Amino acid sequence: MAAQVLVVGSYVQDQAWFVERFPRPGETLRANRYNTGPGGKGFNQAIACARQGVPTAFIGAIGNDTFGGFAEKFARDEKMPCRWQIRNDQPTATSSITINAAAENQIAMIFGANEHLDADFVRAQDDLFAAAKALLLQLENNLDALAAALELGRRHRLVCVLNPAPVHAQLDSAMLHAADIITPNETEFSLLLERFAATQVDPATLAQRDDAELHALARKLGVATVVITLGSRGCFVSHGDDRRSDTDAHYRLAPEKVKAIDTTGAGDAFSGALVAAMVLFHNAPFRRAVTHANRAAAISTEIVGTAPAMPTFDAVVARFGR
Ligand code: RIB
Repeated sequence: MAAQVLVVGSYVQDQAWFVERFPRPGETLRANRYNTGPGGKGFNQAIACARQGVPTAFIGAIGNDTFGGFAEKFARDEKMPCRWQIRNDQPTATSSITINAAAENQIAMIFGANEHLDADFVRAQDDLFAAAKALLLQLENNLDALAAALELGRRHRLVCVLNPAPVHAQLDSAMLHAADIITPNETEFSLLLERFAATQVDPATLAQRDDAELHALARKLGVATVVITLGSRGCFVSHGDDRRSDTDAHYRLAPEKVKAIDTTGAGDAFSGALVAAMVLFHNAPFRRAVTHANRAAAISTEIVGTAPAMPTFDAVVARFGR
């Protein structure tokens, strides 16, 4: 069956060290657990989407190396079709993730092949764009390749969803406004406001602001629908003229109660499951999809790792009901 969601994004071989607290500069700490596995915001989101039972395809770049082989094998085992650009001149991306006892993370990564995804390679996958209903992007690749993907997404009338993570130094308003929906976290939302609306807000204060104020801030970005993920404080939705069948122009969803041990990739679980749920529940109000995404993100924090931690549709329903 043709893929209904297309994800163009990054693959990263994640390496994670679990510690009581983050080390101070110059300090060596004993870690109590180590984990390595497939990650990268793009790949995580594609797996999250595919595991909701929605046919999903992934376009990305890896090196001609061992970690690239791991990426291909994991995708094959998941039965997720991928169009890999295999680069001989760049390594597969790798990350170093430190996770503290509060399940918070710090990430440093080498972007490797992700930053060398050819725009022409993306354009050559036109058949995938022609068959899909939705396109999901992040910002861990070179912007010309992502701009090519957005252009094809618009040309084929796909719903274009941008998870603006991490906010790219060269992201311009044309690219931001080409998205129908964006899913920033608090930090990314503040950076976007500063860059595109000349508005300074402290990300730490966002979750406590009242809904009308958050909505007014979100409207300054000029994107049809803005979904701000607020970590352990849930998420906030702000619509422009098109409410996507929702009754309210803005609302907040409370977080689900879980025992988090690793929050890395929770935002990816959210974005991937959101797009999948938009396809699955296309006749329902948008809130239905956001509720599902909020639940999937919560469950992902109870499992170590990123792509392998993405819950299935059945796991989400078994835990929280329909
Ligand atoms: O969002 C989590 C992801 O960010 C990790 O998998 C890491 O690879 C980085 O891309």
